Amino acid sequence: MNAVGPKLVIATHNEGKLREIRALMAPFGIECLGAAELDLPEPEETGTSFVANAELKARAAADLAGLPALSDDSGLSVDALNGEPGIHSARWAEDEAGKRDFGHAMQKVEEALQAAGPESGRDAHFTCALSLAWPDGRIESFEGKVFGHLVWPPRGDNGFGYDPVFVPHGHEETFGEMEPAAKHAMSHRAKAFEQLVQWLAT
Ligand code: IMP
Repeated sequence: MNAVGPKLVIATHNEGKLREIRALMAPFGIECLGAAELDLPEPEETGTSFVANAELKARAAADLAGLPALSDDSGLSVDALNGEPGIHSARWAEDEAGKRDFGHAMQKVEEALQAAGPESGRDAHFTCALSLAWPDGRIESFEGKVFGHLVWPPRGDNGFGYDPVFVPHGHEETFGEMEPAAKHAMSHRAKAFEQLVQWLAT
């Protein structure tokens, strides 16, 4: 991680993402500062892809903090819903007052799946784009995916977001039921992170 230096801004206000990225970064001995700790604003996600949104968040944080910044844009794409909620995964969780409630988001996804009918299937995947931006203008992005299917009702209190309804292929437990280390061994975030580490090592 020589290209990063001793301090890295984790450009997210999402506690779940921050916890997972901190766990993935732990072996590298880099001090990770959360965006909220630095009082950084949350930029508007105007991109049309996970990478575009990750890049705008990393760029904004690196410019404001004057430090390298790592951002994450991620979400759940459901085949029967033409890839939705996708880049709108956080937005699907907002109630009328703009407050995020993932019980509500999982319910909305389930209702849309029921409306699509059983022949549409329950396949889904998570995508994670990680972008690393430097104050000098450099930026690099990496993307990871994990495929699986959705279950109902939600199961498990671990993880965050849509984890309680997602079962990765080849497993029976949801991400919400798995120990964090088991999720980190196969998740979209871990796969994107592996690529980032490989890129930094070359
Ligand atoms: P954004 O990247 O800030 O737009 O938010 C993406 C949303 O996707 C998060 O708030 C989560 O609800 C969901 N999401 C992303 N990664 C995961 C994950 O690992 N598990 C469950 N939900 C996730």
